[in-house]
Amino acid sequence: MSTLLFLLNLLYNVDMYKSIIFPDNFLWGAGTSAYQVEGGNTNCDWHFWSKNDQNFSDLGCDHYHLYKEDFDLAKGLNHNIHRFSIEWSRIEPEKGKYNQKEINHYRQVLQALKDRGIKTMVTLHHFTNPLWLTWENGWTNEKSVEYFRKYTEVICKELGKYIDFWVTINEPIVYLASGYLSGDWPPGHAKSPRQAYLVFENMAQAHCQAYQVIHQHFPSAKVGIAKNNMYFESGHSWDLIAKTIVKIGDFFWNHWFLRKIRKYQDFIGLNYYFHFKIKSSALKKSFSLIANKDKRLSDLNWEIYPKGIYYLLKDLKKYNKPIYITENGLADRRDQLRPEFLIEHLIQVHRAIQKGIDIKGYIHWSLMDNLEWHQNYHPRFGLIEIDFETLRRIPRPSAYVYADIIKDNAITQSMIKKYAPKALE
Ligand code: GCO
Repeated sequence: MSTLLFLLNLLYNVDMYKSIIFPDNFLWGAGTSAYQVEGGNTNCDWHFWSKNDQNFSDLGCDHYHLYKEDFDLAKGLNHNIHRFSIEWSRIEPEKGKYNQKEINHYRQVLQALKDRGIKTMVTLHHFTNPLWLTWENGWTNEKSVEYFRKYTEVICKELGKYIDFWVTINEPIVYLASGYLSGDWPPGHAKSPRQAYLVFENMAQAHCQAYQVIHQHFPSAKVGIAKNNMYFESGHSWDLIAKTIVKIGDFFWNHWFLRKIRKYQDFIGLNYYFHFKIKSSALKKSFSLIANKDKRLSDLNWEIYPKGIYYLLKDLKKYNKPIYITENGLADRRDQLRPEFLIEHLIQVHRAIQKGIDIKGYIHWSLMDNLEWHQNYHPRFGLIEIDFETLRRIPRPSAYVYADIIKDNAITQSMIKKYAPKALE
């Protein structure tokens, strides 16, 4: 028996010896946002916009009531940080009137995380707006800056001491592009570049002011945004048109906002989902995307391209700030790709760490299945599956793979062999 134990120990240690080990104190967790998981958010623009369109009740995952159960699961899966958002329309249902009951609710949510030894990363704006702001033209109105500052002030006073990391605004460019360029999201103003630009300016101002307010209250606070960056590349080195498009895309999508708020961030939050390989066609005077051979796709047909996260992390190094991966994940209802997705992306994150990039944590999207905006409840991003009829929570197998990685603070060779053999190629 003892020989067996000895051999097992040896095997395990050999495995650990060859492992991909993450820095001490690396943070691991998963994220959600209020409107996507809480249910019952009837006072915001998204509810108004999609009222007739959603096939589950307004309850969603009912995380609003089941947060303790959800945090127990996260704790059981070894998570040590959790990212979630506070719903502005709950805190300030009418302009200038703050709802103490809802403030107390979020205090309990934060306390529940603290009780479980989980660090808190709080997003103040994750796409949804109180309806009163919508009726005042939302973020195109320059007063939105002042409104957001006041809301931030309230959160600082009431809840600030429970917050370890602050994300003021989630994906400002996605927000303005979806609301004012494609028009897929509220307020649905397609092709409105002037309005999109106003949103850009106001959100940047709002972030900078919120940054200052938070620092007045908590000088050593850690404040940033969650930035969706995409990895653009040109298909051929000789394709100058494609290369120019890549540069333009990279500047406007990836860096414009970050540069604007450069002096007002303590960390960068990276949300990574997309890779685009571009080629031009002189004949058609257009450009298109090159499909990679053996391209793997999520349930939403989004390409899975782990190397992209490495290139983006390298690119963010120039800002000289600590980086947290604030989102990375995929829609994979049957959980067929999520284990290898996780491992392959984490290998690339580790590769970036080896290059000296200061990456401090990884927050998977998402802790649980949720409302994927205009795509409704069909895309399943959760480590934890939700049965929306019964509200039962069932961790998917990938949730346990992730839990093992967190436990070891490492990816072992046997995990790679078992779940992500392609990573060895
Ligand atoms: C976003 C958001 C999340 C999404 C996730 C999957 O990027 O749109 O931050 O709310 O649900 O990214 O699309």
